[in-house]
Amino acid sequence: MGVPKEERFSKGGFILSAIASAVGLGNIWKFPYITGENGGAAFFLLFIICLLIVGLPLLLAELAIGRSGRASAASSFVKLGGGRGWRAAGLLQVLTPFLILCFYVVVVGWTLHYAVLAFSGSLRAGSDFGGIFKHFIGGYMPIIWQAVSMVLIGWIVVKGVSGGIERFNKILIPSMAVLLVLLMIRAVTLPGAGAGVSFFLNPDFSQLTPESALVALGHAFFSLSLGMGILLTYGAYVDKRQSLGPAALAIGAGDLIYALIAGLIIFPTTFSFGIAPNEGPSLVFIALPAAFSAMPLGTLFGGLFFVLLAIAALTSAVSILEVPVAFAKEKWGWSRTKSVWIIAGISFVCGIPLALSLGMRPELGFLGKSLFDWIDFLTSNILLPVSGLIVTIFTGFYWKKAGEAAGLSSAWFRAWLFMLRYIVPVLMLLVLLYTSGLLKF
Ligand code: PHE
Repeated sequence: MGVPKEERFSKGGFILSAIASAVGLGNIWKFPYITGENGGAAFFLLFIICLLIVGLPLLLAELAIGRSGRASAASSFVKLGGGRGWRAAGLLQVLTPFLILCFYVVVVGWTLHYAVLAFSGSLRAGSDFGGIFKHFIGGYMPIIWQAVSMVLIGWIVVKGVSGGIERFNKILIPSMAVLLVLLMIRAVTLPGAGAGVSFFLNPDFSQLTPESALVALGHAFFSLSLGMGILLTYGAYVDKRQSLGPAALAIGAGDLIYALIAGLIIFPTTFSFGIAPNEGPSLVFIALPAAFSAMPLGTLFGGLFFVLLAIAALTSAVSILEVPVAFAKEKWGWSRTKSVWIIAGISFVCGIPLALSLGMRPELGFLGKSLFDWIDFLTSNILLPVSGLIVTIFTGFYWKKAGEAAGLSSAWFRAWLFMLRYIVPVLMLLVLLYTSGLLKF
């Protein structure tokens, strides 16, 4: 894959785009509820430690592989001297994001639908919010919204790396920052918000279990968009003069700051309205609309919240679509436009049964899980940690030129290699055993 100029990021554009990928439903939806389930502030600290010891080394490894390989996520390993045996490993880096794309876009659609619902004033105080959500996912509307989302995402990716992905992220990331700050100010000034802030920021270590550590690790990994081929792909578009170490730090810090502010919205809001912070996945679509509907100017703030959620989800979906698109361009020589619409089309069609499996077609599932949940489980809990293990083993043990490629000083390089060889693989293996259900507490 030759990488022409319009297929390259500028320095700042790259960092913003990697942050845009990292900040997604993971930060605003999942992070608050797992923090709630694991006791609050102590878990937040654990998450920061996991970002540092596992997230950053892997992030740097993926970027270095991508930039040196200058190829799609599938072929960089082979190109960098891993030999043919690494071909399957590379293909996994494209298959996993394709599968994630199929179900993630369904949820992007939900966020858009809720943005419209909230602004139209349909989320009124006293409504049956659980019923509204169930009614929505039980019908055909999710598929319409899934289609709208897919077209939006495809439209951005078709415009290319600098003219599409980077250009939109340069607008959307600052817009998200403004929305987050506005919503945070609203949340922390609600009556009773203090209890939420202190739950989130005052650690109580007695709440932590070994399980919390694995949840935090898995989430640090997911939140930085690792194991999804995204940073391998984006790495190929990075200028060779850009320093990857500081870039990785900036991306990690960006992801953390957005998660921190999301927490400062969710916890004060839920505490102020007497909602338990550990409601699980339904928190965002059921409990929060109830809270927004009950506050002054709730239509406005609820609407803004769902716009924020939609932008976060859209920009992450853009990054994940780019992975199979880069692969198709390289492998079959298709144009960007052709690659985008063929892949978006196939992924949309594959996503339909997933969307329906949550509502009107419950028979699309087995062993007590819907098809949607199975694909989520397979990708998030199994394929992602396996992909992460592959990256760490490749960089730590097989790739002779990793040091030069990452551009680290020799002390930092030794520390990085040590982490990639002895710490990250062990921790990733533990995460894999835990998320696949083989290790139980
Ligand atoms: N980091 C992303 C998030 O928090 C993970 C992700 C990226 C998921 C791209 C899907 C697509 O949501």
